[in-house]
Amino acid sequence: MNILDFQQDIQQGIPAIIPAKKAIDSTVNHAPKRKEILSLEEKKLALRNALRYFPKNQHEELAEDFLNELETYGRIYMLRYRPDYKMYARPIDEYPGKSLKAKAIMLMIQNNLDYAVAQHPHELITYGGNGAVFQNWIQYRLTMKYLSEMTDEQTLVMYSGHPMGLFPSHTSAPRVVVTNGMVIPNYSKPDDWEKMNALGVSQYGQMTAGSYMYIGPQGIVHGTTITVLNGFRKIKKSPTGSLFVTSGLGGMSGAQPKAGNISGCVTVCAEVNPKITKIRHEQGWINEICEDIDELVARVRVAQSNKEVISIAYLGNIVDVWEKFDQENIHIDLGSDQTSLHNPWAGGYYPVGQSFEASNEMMANNPELFKTKVKETLVRHAAAVNKHTAKGTYFFDYGNAFLLEASRAGADVMAPNGIDFKYPSYVQDIMGPMCFDYGFGPFRWVCASGKPQDLQKTDDIACAVLEEMMKHSPVEIQQQMADNIQWIKGAQQNKLVVGSQARILYADAEGRMRIAEAFNKAIANGEVGPIILGRDHHDVSGTDSPYRETSNIYDGSRFTADMAIQNVIGDSFRGATWVSIHNGGGVGWGEVINGGFGMLLDGSAEADRLLKMMLHWDVNNGIARRSWARNEGAVFAIKRAMEMEPALKVTVPENVEDSIIEGIFSAVKS
Ligand SMILES: NC(=O)c1ccc[n+]([C@@H]2O[C@H](COP(=O)([O-])OP(=O)(O)OC[C@H]3O[C@@H](n4cnc5c(N)ncnc54)[C@H](O)[C@@H]3O)[C@@H](O)[C@H]2O)c1
Repeated sequence: MNILDFQQDIQQGIPAIIPAKKAIDSTVNHAPKRKEILSLEEKKLALRNALRYFPKNQHEELAEDFLNELETYGRIYMLRYRPDYKMYARPIDEYPGKSLKAKAIMLMIQNNLDYAVAQHPHELITYGGNGAVFQNWIQYRLTMKYLSEMTDEQTLVMYSGHPMGLFPSHTSAPRVVVTNGMVIPNYSKPDDWEKMNALGVSQYGQMTAGSYMYIGPQGIVHGTTITVLNGFRKIKKSPTGSLFVTSGLGGMSGAQPKAGNISGCVTVCAEVNPKITKIRHEQGWINEICEDIDELVARVRVAQSNKEVISIAYLGNIVDVWEKFDQENIHIDLGSDQTSLHNPWAGGYYPVGQSFEASNEMMANNPELFKTKVKETLVRHAAAVNKHTAKGTYFFDYGNAFLLEASRAGADVMAPNGIDFKYPSYVQDIMGPMCFDYGFGPFRWVCASGKPQDLQKTDDIACAVLEEMMKHSPVEIQQQMADNIQWIKGAQQNKLVVGSQARILYADAEGRMRIAEAFNKAIANGEVGPIILGRDHHDVSGTDSPYRETSNIYDGSRFTADMAIQNVIGDSFRGATWVSIHNGGGVGWGEVINGGFGMLLDGSAEADRLLKMMLHWDVNNGIARRSWARNEGAVFAIKRAMEMEPALKVTVPENVEDSIIEGIFSAVKS
């Protein structure tokens, strides 16, 4: 399809004539059938909801088709409306429309649905099994049409994938405001999502899926590398010759062995699914596959003594690895787990002692037995981990709800106080105190021209800014600066781009602002085309998630969500091009509130003004909250931020002496 046809297709929105049905394309990865959740009356409601997008004279024909989809897939995707043009992030000037900002959003939406990027592109799922951009193809078509006709004095309002419409606003307001899965808290159980999603009234946006800010595996490789590197620093051990044991070679977990290699250790990663294991091997994300546990033991001993930098996939259950390494006295330095325990009963975690096929069969035909087996496995899994940690292994939860589900299964994972877990989450010990508390988080940008040379130029600009900043950085953040300079220098060589010309980099508020300012200047000088800024929601300020992003908050406020809500509101009136706020993401529906933004830099003076105001808030909001929770690094960071910006005045905590608190209670007792 040529550009003109593509533009016309976008502008027509919903086709006037019902298109022919599309055959299922078996070369594309499809979402599993969703669980049967609707009653007969609710199915009728789902159909009424779906048909309201179409003129009356089409209802009869479409009703039959949509009911068929509902029965077959558990959802109505409106598959016949999937466009025929190729789905990818086109150069920004190929999009039709009146607003450059709206075109930037179209580019990012198409990137999230690119077949090379999205997990289940036909079901509009970008990642994480259920991270949706839209609920159906009509929402996609209508949204693209609105974006193609809007001006810079309108804002498009998105309710969980549904474009409610264009509302008058003003030039520095966001062009799009996205909410995903926002429900009344008492109706936020997993089955509430299943039902509302099947009815077509809510969706799980994950983090960067429903906010159009996913950039493929690069983001996770970077974050995982930072975690593994800092994990070894935490235990004061060199990665060389040290052993990292974990599991999962899926969408995000697959980054672990690559990160292990970049860090320079020996990695063993168990995976039960032979197909995924083979793919990761072919992609070069793991070096070797071992199918026999005794062979694995022998291979690991050699790798440890030769101090090899190597990643080995064990095709089998992770519990077998932990148990066998205990019997054989193989010392594990760093241990974790990245099976999908946010989804334990539907394929996220496989029971030990069963083949992959037998487990899948049991899951579908005997779900209760499957649940029992999963719980038994979790108990064994935790017991084996406990034996290793007693011998000195450092184990951390990797944001996959391992400790939460293990505790629910009755495993021995609770701390003596019965409230906390025995082991930290990676945010508690690593990411929180070493990165987030200082404002370092996953800043990212996309070169909207689509030109690799623009990305190369922006890498050089970012590197020069960081090197300049590092000359004057306080000692507390020197390590982070050095890690990121090293990352950006190796980025081109590591060939991390999948989909749009994007880059991720951990930077603090000052770094983000200075890099963005330099980009805007380069755009103004004609050195590069427009640039879209954004970030992962897994960041300093955007996400309230008590078992992940905010797990290192100890003042009792980690179950509150003021920070994420304040963040999205604050970003929206400080110049973000689009903002989003979601219920659910990473750790499960009802377990987290997270938000993000996108911001177009076009080289203008206005963009320069807005980027400074917005990025400053976007990071310092979270530092202020982390500081108020008495986190040492954040207290340092917010005081430094106030010195740098006199208009910033934040309430800082005074720490009471323990002796006063203890004394007053013992006085009351006596
Ligand atoms: N720490 C982070 O930064 C971070 C980021 C994103 C996601 N996560 C969480 O990590 C988890 C994994 O994400 P993903 O996208 O890789 O999911 P995924 O479902 O694609 O991959 C998980 C893999 O684990 C395998 N597996 C399940 N049980 C196993 C067992 N007992 N032994 C061996 N292998 C087993 C599965 O076959 C699957 O391939 C999710 O819960 C996700 O929310 C963490």
